[in-house]
Amino acid sequence: MASLKTKTYKLNNGLDIPAVGLGTWQSPPGAVRQAVVEALRAGYRLIDCAYCYANEEEVGQGLADAFAEGIVRREDVFVVTKVWATYTTRCALGLDKSLKALGLEYVDLLLVHWPLLMNPEGNDDRFPKLPNGERDIIRSHNHVDTWKQMEQLLGSGKAKGIGVSNYSKRYLEQLLPHATVIPAVNQIENHPALPQQEIVDLCKEKGIHVMAYSPLGSTGGPLLTAEPVVQVAEKHGAKPAAVLLSYHLARGSTVLAKSVTPERIRENVDTLLELDADDMQKLNDYSAQLTREGKLQRFVYPPFGVDFGFPDKS
Ligand SMILES: NC(=O)c1ccc[n+]([C@@H]2O[C@H](COP(=O)([O-])OP(=O)(O)OC[C@H]3O[C@@H](n4cnc5c(N)ncnc54)[C@H](OP(=O)(O)O)[C@@H]3O)[C@@H](O)[C@H]2O)c1
Repeated sequence: MASLKTKTYKLNNGLDIPAVGLGTWQSPPGAVRQAVVEALRAGYRLIDCAYCYANEEEVGQGLADAFAEGIVRREDVFVVTKVWATYTTRCALGLDKSLKALGLEYVDLLLVHWPLLMNPEGNDDRFPKLPNGERDIIRSHNHVDTWKQMEQLLGSGKAKGIGVSNYSKRYLEQLLPHATVIPAVNQIENHPALPQQEIVDLCKEKGIHVMAYSPLGSTGGPLLTAEPVVQVAEKHGAKPAAVLLSYHLARGSTVLAKSVTPERIRENVDTLLELDADDMQKLNDYSAQLTREGKLQRFVYPPFGVDFGFPDKS
């Protein structure tokens, strides 16, 4: 449906954010450049990137191709990147590295990727490890200090907006009393098997927009075969992917779908649906059942060994 493809939301900083975006995690160099061009040609206007994904140079080449081919102008695309955990005491440097790789002068949104610090002087730029193989984490770091740096960056013109990612209700409640700028966004794993309603509700109350990641269940899309999802899809003569993506639009969130497959890239924006109250009830019942049975599924949880305050992991 064309209107859903072009739907946007107003952020608390006054900027418009598209309702659907292309994810780029695990999109290999060699494929992601073309995926970005294909997505922009198909009508996506949000590209979700991260320094940690180690492919921002190729994403930037895709953006440059799309600008050169006249598919979009820079100001038509909402580009998101994230400060990785080895840069949470050096946010300005983290942003500069992403901008250089992307070949851009600014991003539309800069997120704190995870609320922790990994050793900036460790044995790896992205995933430093201790001699015993565990992640090299500086546990004394306070995530509020990272946010203070993010606030300073707003004045640089290099990030039009700032936000967080992987913030639980507990972490948001620690942050908000100290925030001069309320995060524009909290990007979290979100789907019917991990609704994280307590975070979504708090974000709504505080004016923080939710961006949903791993909507299909991440690699291989394991949620595409979940029975209630299949049933809602059959009712609409649609595919399960369309239901899983449209679920977030019905919740008022932005959804990120990753694909490097041209047909899927197109399909993921061209088949979005208006789910009705019965559809959402069915999906919410499924979430409630998984919650009751202790079977919620979190597909993305790096082995940091840190309690981030998520009820299913605390
Ligand atoms: N902030 C964070 O910490 C964080 C964490 C995770 C993800 N993210 C962001 O969110 C994005 C999306 O999440 P994700 O990459 O974890 O997973 P996802 O979008 O839920 O799923 C991606 C997987 O589904 C496949 N797929 C895509 N469209 C499909 C379709 N229509 N039918 C069948 N299969 C389909 C993809 O395969 P092909 O590519 O082979 O087509 C890929 O294997 C990421 O790329 C990233 O930008 C952020």
